[in-house]
Amino acid sequence: MEILSSKIIAKGLPQMGHSDVASVDAAALIGAEIKKAQYAAAKQRNESIAQDVFRRAAIPPRFAARKLSTFNAHCDSAAEALNIARSYASDFDGVLETGRSLIFVGGVGAGKTHLATGIAHSVMEQGYCALFSSVIGAVRSVKETYRRDSSKSESDAILALIKPDLLILDEVGVQFGSDAEKLILFEIINGRYEHMRPTIVISNLALAGLKEYLGERIIDRLREGGGKQVVFDWPSYRLRRPS
Ligand SMILES: Nc1ncnc2c1ncn2[C@@H]1O[C@H](COP(=O)(O)OP(=O)(O)O)[C@@H](O)[C@H]1O
Ligand SMILES: [Mg+2]
Repeated sequence: MEILSSKIIAKGLPQMGHSDVASVDAAALIGAEIKKAQYAAAKQRNESIAQDVFRRAAIPPRFAARKLSTFNAHCDSAAEALNIARSYASDFDGVLETGRSLIFVGGVGAGKTHLATGIAHSVMEQGYCALFSSVIGAVRSVKETYRRDSSKSESDAILALIKPDLLILDEVGVQFGSDAEKLILFEIINGRYEHMRPTIVISNLALAGLKEYLGERIIDRLREGGGKQVVFDWPSYRLRRPS
């Protein structure tokens, strides 16, 4: 308010003396400082929103910095997988319109989780909400509601997995999977399918094994609307010699 009035005073004086010029300079300086402070506050606010979004996405700390930009296209197939991931992330509006999912299968260490979390980072940077969970974690979050003292219901827990714009379900088929667990998995994937929400399913199983594990109905839903399957058929990145 003071700054505003000093500007008005300066404007209203056709012939300004030295002290008037000094007060305009001071006002401009203070104005610039305020703008800087406002910018810093907004930046911090955005950062804390971004941190919050990131925290809620539950991306494991190891993958906190695993972006699409840090994925090395070390062979033609890896370059192709990166291209698919890049276009999926950059056309996420289109992905949401069709509910197009992705299936990543292949050996341990090939970069499936890295590429999927890279997509999640990019999608969150665009303002969407993403969630990362292993199947074991997702099933556990639902089973925990069966306890008598649970404040959440089973459908609350399933809804929390259906709500995000993007869900990454990692480690599909790691454990044998009882019928009850498979039913939970079906409810999650089917619930997302019905709401046109895409899911990235990651598995170390081969495609045939994954089909057997999840069943034809789920695979069909994941493929609908042009959902791609990416086979990571190269050796573990961890065993690579530095080039
Ligand atoms: N193409 C790649 N470029 C850079 N780092 C990679 C690449 N592939 C894998 N990694 C790294 O190797 C490790 C294993 O990858 P990860 O995504 O966990 O494999 P997977 O999920 O297929 O088992 C991670 O630290 C990951 O960041
Ligand atoms: Mg993995």
